[in-house]
Amino acid sequence: MTPRHLLALEDFSGDQLRALVDRALVLKQESKAGARHQQLSGKIIGMIFEKPSTRTRASFEAAMYGLGGQVMFLSARDTQLARSEPLKDTARVMSRYVDGLVVRTFGQSVVEELAAYATAPVINALTDLHHPCQVLSDVMTMLEKKGDIAALNVAWIGDGNNMANSWIQAAGKLGFSLTLACPEGYEPDAAILARSRAQAARPITLLREPAQAAQKADVVNVDVWASMGQEEEREERSGVFSAYQLDEKLMALAAPGAIVMHCLPAHCGEEITEALFEAQAETLFDQAENKMHMHKALLEHFLLA
Ligand code: CP
Ligand code: NVA
Repeated sequence: MTPRHLLALEDFSGDQLRALVDRALVLKQESKAGARHQQLSGKIIGMIFEKPSTRTRASFEAAMYGLGGQVMFLSARDTQLARSEPLKDTARVMSRYVDGLVVRTFGQSVVEELAAYATAPVINALTDLHHPCQVLSDVMTMLEKKGDIAALNVAWIGDGNNMANSWIQAAGKLGFSLTLACPEGYEPDAAILARSRAQAARPITLLREPAQAAQKADVVNVDVWASMGQEEEREERSGVFSAYQLDEKLMALAAPGAIVMHCLPAHCGEEITEALFEAQAETLFDQAENKMHMHKALLEHFLLA
């Protein structure tokens, strides 16, 4: 049985994650071939966002409309959540109106509490701790571009943030090797790392040197140095992460034909050079497109379960 909610990738088996990725690939193929999907006709999702979003919001909305469903977007600051209405009441109220809730917020405990009280499925569209939908669509992109997932060597260079934590959980379940290079004090969550390592078929390695992580990697991942909610640390982080910029020199250490992945938004000149970003633009925007196909698979799965 797959869990009723999508809060973190570790709640799923490798086979369950792989089935979602495979379904997204089929939906992508069908929609490119002109299929008009209607399986979510008559269904509504509510999207409650406490942080900004371009891709996740737009791709979930496009996915829902693309499957014949409808979307209600709620900016959290315009709801009674901003005036301290309890999460458990919000969850129970919203479950009476919609068939699924897609939530972007700060604490992982927020999505957990909503899920505990909602009768509708809750999908985590980014918290400070995880970005599971993004990493699932990134695994899809990696499979499309590089083939056999379990054979791949994936690198993560930069902050041990929400994306890094979800990549660690994906590695633990899907069996690719993952090497993270993070500065001291900016490591991923230690408990997540320990739990995923205990299940992993191949090594999940944490080190400091970007060059060591990039070495022979098939996929090199980067993300912003200051995530949403860390705006005040931006200057300090610029200093800490200056040696972690991904450029063509670092990519030259990677395996032949290696790809760069970035969940976006990117800050060119910080975590990645403009030249490398533009050289990898096709992959990066395919990666962004795949969010929509992956979200279709997620909505279909969780709303029709
Ligand atoms: N990658 C991603 O989640 O982008 P948004 O913040 O624009 O949704
Ligand atoms: N780590 C980034 C990801 C943005 C999609 C953030 O949380 O802001």
